[in-house]
Amino acid sequence: MTLAPETLKEQVNDLGPLLRRAVLSLVAILATIGFGLGVVRYIQASDPYIHTVLSLEGDVSQGEAIFQMNCAVCHGFAATGEVGPTLVRVSDHRTKVSLIKQVISGQTPPMPQFQPDPQAMADLLDYLESL
Ligand code: HEC
Repeated sequence: MTLAPETLKEQVNDLGPLLRRAVLSLVAILATIGFGLGVVRYIQASDPYIHTVLSLEGDVSQGEAIFQMNCAVCHGFAATGEVGPTLVRVSDHRTKVSLIKQVISGQTPPMPQFQPDPQAMADLLDYLESL
């Protein structure tokens, strides 16, 4: 089948925008994958609550008291584990942000969702990191 010269020209002209769209889509996909993790980290760190907690100085003994009242029933009085896992050296495999999220998210039942005020969370965080 031969194409009329005009149709051919139209098709060649169409190729430009099409190609541009394809390249743009590819760039968008790569950017999403490439920067996905970074964006997630950025959003986590820019969450106002987490940001406030991280900006505060924690008090380990305050944090321990908060832990005894709210967490020891499951994690044990020395945080060595009961219903919940041991939290000894938990900060070896958890970042500050992920520890905060663990406490406030309620995403791993039976562990409940806690809503400590930022100072209490900062204290708790320091205690968890001291284990
Ligand atoms: C009702 C029982 C319960 C209470 C109360 C509880 N937890 Fe948990 N916690 C769990 C369980 C169960 C897990 C394991 C969840 C999973 O990963 O499936 C867990 C997991 C965790 C982890 C992650 C451990 C790891 O190795 O990554 C942290 C940190 C933690 N809890 C801290 C706390 C703190 C701090 C409190 C108090 C504010 C608390 N928990 C209160 C049951 C509890």
